[in-house]
Amino acid sequence: MADTQLMHHHVQLTINGQAIRVPVGSTVAAAIARFPVEAYRHSVQGEARAPLCGMGICYECRVTINQREHTLSCQTLCEEGMVVTTT
Ligand code: FES
Repeated sequence: MADTQLMHHHVQLTINGQAIRVPVGSTVAAAIARFPVEAYRHSVQGEARAPLCGMGICYECRVTINQREHTLSCQTLCEEGMVVTTT
């Protein structure tokens, strides 16, 4: 596959300041899983949290996407230029 074809099938986003290129249709949760992050978020008691259900029920996968806090990473598809931060 030519490089230009590959680029059209991928999007680039930033996770905690690091650029990553993922296939179109990837969820933000899946993209974050490619990094050695400590947690997607922390509970009010300070416990590390990460995706549990993967289908929008548990709310354990919340991250900040384009400055919008508490966004469900398992229900959000990666977009070109997206900026994601975990806690
Ligand atoms: S993993 Fe459960 S809501 Fe996202």
